[in-house]
Amino acid sequence: MPGFAMRAFLPRILLAFILSCGSAVAQDAIAVRVDASQPGAKIDRHIFGQFAEHLGTQIYGGIWVGHHSKIPNVRGIRKDVVAALRELHVPDVRWPGGCYADQYHWRDGIGKARKARLNASWGGVLDTNAFGTHEFMEFANQIGAEAYVSVNVGSGTVKEAADWLEYMTADKPTALAKERAANGHPAPYKVAFMGIGNESWDCGGLMTPTEYTAQLRLYGRFVNSYNSAAPMQKIAVGPGSPDTDWTDAVMKTWKDRRGWSFDFNGMSLHAYTVFGGWPPHMPASDFGEQDYAEVLSETLKMDGLIQKQSAVMDKYDPDKKITLVVDEWGAWLTATKGSNPAFLQQQNSQRDAVLAALNLNIFARHADRVRMANIAQMVNVLQAMIMTDGAKMVRTPTYYVFKMYVPFQDAQILPVTFDAGSYSVGGISMPRVDAIAAKSKDGKTVIALTNIDPNRPANFAISLPGITAAQVQGQVLTAPKIDSVNTFQAPNTVTPRPVTSPVKDGALAVTLAPASVMVLTLDR
Ligand code: AHR
Repeated sequence: MPGFAMRAFLPRILLAFILSCGSAVAQDAIAVRVDASQPGAKIDRHIFGQFAEHLGTQIYGGIWVGHHSKIPNVRGIRKDVVAALRELHVPDVRWPGGCYADQYHWRDGIGKARKARLNASWGGVLDTNAFGTHEFMEFANQIGAEAYVSVNVGSGTVKEAADWLEYMTADKPTALAKERAANGHPAPYKVAFMGIGNESWDCGGLMTPTEYTAQLRLYGRFVNSYNSAAPMQKIAVGPGSPDTDWTDAVMKTWKDRRGWSFDFNGMSLHAYTVFGGWPPHMPASDFGEQDYAEVLSETLKMDGLIQKQSAVMDKYDPDKKITLVVDEWGAWLTATKGSNPAFLQQQNSQRDAVLAALNLNIFARHADRVRMANIAQMVNVLQAMIMTDGAKMVRTPTYYVFKMYVPFQDAQILPVTFDAGSYSVGGISMPRVDAIAAKSKDGKTVIALTNIDPNRPANFAISLPGITAAQVQGQVLTAPKIDSVNTFQAPNTVTPRPVTSPVKDGALAVTLAPASVMVLTLDR
């Protein structure tokens, strides 16, 4: 593949030159028009949510090392991981699962005598339950995120879940609130989101839509937050495929609810990028252009999936009161050689960075319905932000996309028009580029550009009618190769670099290297 070879050896210095020559408009430039006068829906910061399941080395080792560890920690939680995650402004973190949530019994993880259990969902390994409710809340607090707790519907009871919520949130001296205080936390916790089960059509109990909606009514009715200072949103289990029967049943249940007794605020959608069907078999590293294109073409199906599910939701909820919560998404690839396959540990490459940007763009375009999403997962599992090995830690290319996109949190989407062109290889075709723009919380115009094509740089000629800024600045995430990864030995192979470009008469020109992501902020 001569094109890819050219990309692979394009020296960084040449890339830097290309990027700094932003003001000259190239002949083949892609015209992008941003209409800053028409701010649309808010891109809820919760679309940048995360997911930390008890799975592999995510909780034990990746987040929790215990009070007596030599690895620097605050109350048992790794300092380095917390510091890295704080930079992402993580809005919420989902816990304890995933499939694990439907086997989790909260009493095993409180108090002095923790009950060790087998993690039956993920490899049958021992879970000491040293990381339980208090430790999760401490972690969420340290990274500055809201808590999203999934309750056990599959092997638990309504009472068990109701008691857990009362234990966490009661702000009056109930027996459970006193027990919480005796365990070290007199003040009620805030639970911002509660998931009512997980994949109840599969690992959560193989339920039919009718069986699940019967549970949903009961959990929705009886499991509540009692912290009057912190409203909680309830999230029903939604579909995990393009099929809409499940969505129909859940939304009908919502529509048919009566009065005050039962409600929920969101319905989940689980959508992993797995090219060619299960089990996941696409390599996470050492892959070529065909693998690159197949995975990215698959991930772009997220848009159609959201459209299809939203159309059913619109039927019951035209005012879009119910959020479509994409609380599991990301690439699911082959496990790292030598790792326990049940630990779902996979490498994270520049392709994952492009994939993350494309999905975030899709969520942003559906901002009126998709107001929350949680990438799977956070540390050492699937498309992770961070990888650890003992005391070592490395940020992944996906981490950097989340960091670059921080200005989009709670920004308002702006209309953008452009001709995306096309990129094709080996029978796979997809748009060559992607772009979104928004008005940030502090009133600045932010633009995200993605060049999907791994062979050709993309020249963008951006017009911003009505914008008087003189300067644009931002960051670009590019890599020596499409399958470049960050390792403990070479942690900075894929890291963002600064970009600046002048803006003249509301117009600017930038060139984006192949397979790269750029985020620009205008100074006014
Ligand atoms: O993220 C890994 C697993 O994928 C989750 O536990 C489950 O909900 C999904 O099938």
